Amino acid sequence: MVLAVEWLDSPRPMIRLIDQTRLPEAEVMLEVTTVDALVDAISTLAVRGAPALGAVGALGVVVAMLQAETEGWDEATLAAQVDRVRDARPTAVNLAWGVDRVRPAIPMGVAAVLAEARALIAEDGAANRELSRLGADWILARTGKERVRVVTHCNTGALATTAWGTAYGIIHELHDRGALEMVYADETRPLLQGARLTSWELTQDGIDHVVQVDGAASSTILRGLVDVAIIGADRITANGDTANKVGSVALALACRRAGIPFVVAAPFSTVDLGTPTGAEIVIEERDPTEVTAFGGRRTAPPEAIGFNPAFDVTPHDLISAVVTERGVVEPATTPHPELLARIAG
Ligand code: MRU
Repeated sequence: MVLAVEWLDSPRPMIRLIDQTRLPEAEVMLEVTTVDALVDAISTLAVRGAPALGAVGALGVVVAMLQAETEGWDEATLAAQVDRVRDARPTAVNLAWGVDRVRPAIPMGVAAVLAEARALIAEDGAANRELSRLGADWILARTGKERVRVVTHCNTGALATTAWGTAYGIIHELHDRGALEMVYADETRPLLQGARLTSWELTQDGIDHVVQVDGAASSTILRGLVDVAIIGADRITANGDTANKVGSVALALACRRAGIPFVVAAPFSTVDLGTPTGAEIVIEERDPTEVTAFGGRRTAPPEAIGFNPAFDVTPHDLISAVVTERGVVEPATTPHPELLARIAG
């Protein structure tokens, strides 16, 4: 299984990333030893996916501390550089969460921060395995089927996490149980995380799938070609509203009309109980040229202005289940203002 994010102590301390902008054509590794390089990797989506962002957020504090030692930064400069990592992308709560989790250990030194970051990474991998088991159990029970056909959006596999995956982890678990018939992977405009990354992972894992344009997904659902939609999440608010890659809400609407479950899978680190509803989520708007050009070539007329929100928010009443490692809640049928707090422990 590919590791999207790794800490290496030698030949020099670094975060090693697989450059996801180059997949699937080339497997190029990035060696990150500075805050500038990390912020660039996050902004360009060389590293991406909410849980993977949590991991680089935590490891980014280590990188900043080591750079502070080399370059003689004072405390205020170090804090500002850590904030640059924390703020490199706004929507996935995991990035800020990863930074905030290890930040209190800064006065204890680099080794203590690194130990906390490593613990976070180990916990994410374990959480993914557990939520995948819970999600597969829930889907098989709810659909009453022995083998299911799944539609998914964006990329939620090992590349998007520290190991195994979330929505993809459930798909993998169903496959391992012999309970998966077929996956419809949305290509995921404009940066093609589905076509480039999910299809690459599904191919490596020997899982039958087709790649479809995002615009086909609603029709695939309404034609009865799938039994369940499974997506990941970038932020799940206290009432169960969920931000995920733009295009997710169209799947949810179609699932409601078709009467099939719409499942959100994420580690509990993606749950943001401090944000009451999806209306308060900051949606990242990316460079409009990602929309007005394709493969480096302008496709829209020169006068055309692109609109490029990277995420959308699916209202909780369209979500059949939110699956985390702590359990499953059913937002569509459980009206409760603090829904997720029920499994917060
Ligand atoms: O812009 P991206 O590629 O970082 O968006 C990723 C997604 O929307 C994923 O579905 C989400 O982060 C969950 S990853 C397990």
